[in-house]
Amino acid sequence: MQIMNITRKSPLKLSTQPILVPGDKSLSHRFVIFASMIEGVSECTGFLEAEDPLHTMKCFSELGIQFEKIADSSYRVISPGIRNWKSPTKDLDFGNGGTGIRLSAGILAGAPGIKATLTGDASLQKRPMGRITDPLSKMGAKINSINNDGKAPLQLEGVQLKDFYYESSIASAQVKSCLVFAAMASGISLEYKEPELSRDHTENMIRFLGGKIEYKNPLHFILKPPYQFTGKNFSIPGDISSASFFIVLGLLAGEGSILHIQNIGLNPSRIGILEVLKMMGGKIRILNQREECGEITGDLEIEGSDLHHISIEEKWIPSIIDEIPILTIAGLFAKGGFSIENAKELRAKESDRIHAMVVNLQKLGVKVDEREDGYSFGEITELQTDVPIETFMDHRIAMSFSILNAVIPLNLKIDDVSWVETSFPGFFQKLESLVGKQ
Ligand code: S3P
Repeated sequence: MQIMNITRKSPLKLSTQPILVPGDKSLSHRFVIFASMIEGVSECTGFLEAEDPLHTMKCFSELGIQFEKIADSSYRVISPGIRNWKSPTKDLDFGNGGTGIRLSAGILAGAPGIKATLTGDASLQKRPMGRITDPLSKMGAKINSINNDGKAPLQLEGVQLKDFYYESSIASAQVKSCLVFAAMASGISLEYKEPELSRDHTENMIRFLGGKIEYKNPLHFILKPPYQFTGKNFSIPGDISSASFFIVLGLLAGEGSILHIQNIGLNPSRIGILEVLKMMGGKIRILNQREECGEITGDLEIEGSDLHHISIEEKWIPSIIDEIPILTIAGLFAKGGFSIENAKELRAKESDRIHAMVVNLQKLGVKVDEREDGYSFGEITELQTDVPIETFMDHRIAMSFSILNAVIPLNLKIDDVSWVETSFPGFFQKLESLVGKQ
C-alpha cells in the first residue's frame, strides 16, 4: 500500500464526445406498472434495460400482460386491464428492486381477486417493508410478511380497499407511490401528506395520462376516482442518478475540462444533486431545457471545478438520497471536507449506505466521524492506494468508488461490480470511453 497525494498535477483528459446515460429507473418501473394497469396498448422509448426494471416487467408478465421489445430500450405493452389480471402461478421475484416490490405491492394489494407472493434477492429481503404494509393494512389490505419480520417475502391477497388519509413520517416516493397505486387499483380516494417533497414521477404520469390531483399545498394532495386512462406513448429521459457519476467525474477532471451529458430527466424533485454541487462550487449548466411526457428534461454541461465544503440543509436530502455516495466522492476533493446529516434513510437503501461509505473511506485512510444520520470528514490531502473496497451488494457504492479510481489511480480492488447491472448496464464501457482503460 502507498499513500497518494490527492491534488492532481495534470487534469484528466476526458473525451469531448457528448454522452448519454440509460433511461430513468424510477420512470421505467412506473411505465411498466401504469401500462399494465391500463387496458390496451402503451409504448415507450428510453426504457432502462437493467436488472431492476426488467425484473418488474417479468413480474407483470406473470399477471398476463404482454411486453414486446420493439427496438433497443423501446417496448410495446398490451394489457387486458387491471380487472382482467390473473394471479401469478409462481412467486414474483423483484431481484434487487426496492421500487419494483414496493410499488407493485400497492397495486396488487388493491386489485381484488389477485393472490401473489412478492420476493427478491438477499439484499432486498433485508429492507424494511413495514413502511408500506402498515398503511396498506390500514386501507384494508391483506398483506403480510411471511417470516413475520417486516421484510419480504410478502404474501398478499388483493381486496377492495377503502378511502384513506395518510400522513407519512418519511419523505419516501416509494411509500407515496405504493399507496397511490393501491388507491387506483381499488378505485378509491387517497389523501396524502409528506414531510418533504419526495420524487413525484407517479403524480406526473397521472397528469400526463389526463388524471387530476388536487393539491392543498405541495406536500399534501388528494387523489379521487375515476381513474380511467387509455394507453399512450411515453419517452423516458436519461436517469439523473446515473448521470451523477459522470457529473462528478466531469467536475473533478480539472480546469478547462468540459463534459456534455445529453437528454437527462430534470424533474425538480430530482435535481438536488445539481443544486448541491453548484453550491459546492461546481460549474454545471442546463442547456435545451424542455418538457416531455410531463417531465422536464435537458442537456448538461459540466466544467472542471474547484469544490468546497458546504452545510447541506435537511430540505435537500430527499432529492439527493440516491446520490449521496457519489457526492461523498466529490467531497473527498472539497476544500474544507464533507459532511452529511439528517440522512438516516441511507441506512435503508440497497445497503446501509452510511456504514458502506464509512467502512470504505476508513480503508482509504480517511478519518470519518460516523453518526446515526450521516458522517463527516475534514479536508483530505492524501489517500491509501491498493485497498479492497466492499460494495455490500450495492450498485451505487460500486460505481462511486469506480469514479474515484478513475479520477486518481488508486488501484482500488472493488469486490463485486456485478451489482452495477441492476441500474446501469454499460457503465464501465462509458467510463472507459471517457477516461481510457484503467
Ligand atoms: C425511488 C424512491 C427513492 C429512491 C429509489 C427510487 C422511486 O426511495 O431512493 O432509488 O422510484 O420511487 P424512497 O422512496 O424509499 O426514498
